Amino acid sequence: MMRKTFNTTAVCIPGEHYMVDISGRLQKIKEMIAAKKYFTINRARQYGKTTTLQALFGYLQSEYYTVLLDFQTFDASKFKDGNIFSIAFAGSFLHALKRNRLSENTALEKACADLKNAAVISNSIFSLKELFECLRDICAASDKPIVLMIDEVDSASNNQVFLDFLAQLRAQYIERAWQPAFQSVILAGVYDIKNLKQKLRADEEHKYNSPWNIA
Ligand SMILES: Nc1ncnc2c1ncn2[C@@H]1O[C@H](COP(=O)(O)OP(=O)(O)OP(=O)(O)O)[C@@H](O)[C@H]1O
Ligand SMILES: [Mg+2]
Repeated sequence: MMRKTFNTTAVCIPGEHYMVDISGRLQKIKEMIAAKKYFTINRARQYGKTTTLQALFGYLQSEYYTVLLDFQTFDASKFKDGNIFSIAFAGSFLHALKRNRLSENTALEKACADLKNAAVISNSIFSLKELFECLRDICAASDKPIVLMIDEVDSASNNQVFLDFLAQLRAQYIERAWQPAFQSVILAGVYDIKNLKQKLRADEEHKYNSPWNIA
């Protein structure tokens, strides 16, 4: 067995590094997920956000499918418009979903294939609306509730397309009583996205209207 070491660079891996026990924190977050909350985790750099999200992936595995994305892996060009963003998001989402131990589920496989096809084939018209319709179908077909976690959300926060993305999540949250939706959405970053408005130019302010004002 590998000997554990102390780690102060990037994420802590439980099998490899000495760690502060975060099981209490994981349990609290799991309770919020069970309560179907959509929420943000805002902490300064190097507070353990990524370590927490990665640990949650394993912690939730028996009850949920967890899709963990990192917006830092989306280069700036991916936020150029809704079409480009949605295609990139679809690809990353499907890739991250496959990291779960998925049960035999032809309905889910079909919904995933539909998303892939929609993003690739009807390429030029595929945008946020089409993306979220496909994501809803995936949530409906899934045999376990799906938790969406996005790390480094604020690397995207200066982009209109990110605000449009938040608006879609917000609409999904509001309609989730009669539409399939993610069980829970966790956005992790350094800044509180409720304060996004402050960073925007005054003449554009009317566009934004706190898209995430529910969490
Ligand atoms: N449970 C833990 N026990 C001990 N050290 C930890 C623990 N969680 C994180 N760390 C340490 O803190 C550092 C930062 O962790 P992590 O990368 O998860 O934070 P972060 O909030 O995602 O940082 P950033 O904002 O820079 O992405 C890591 O180098 C790791 O050494
Ligand atoms: Mg991090």
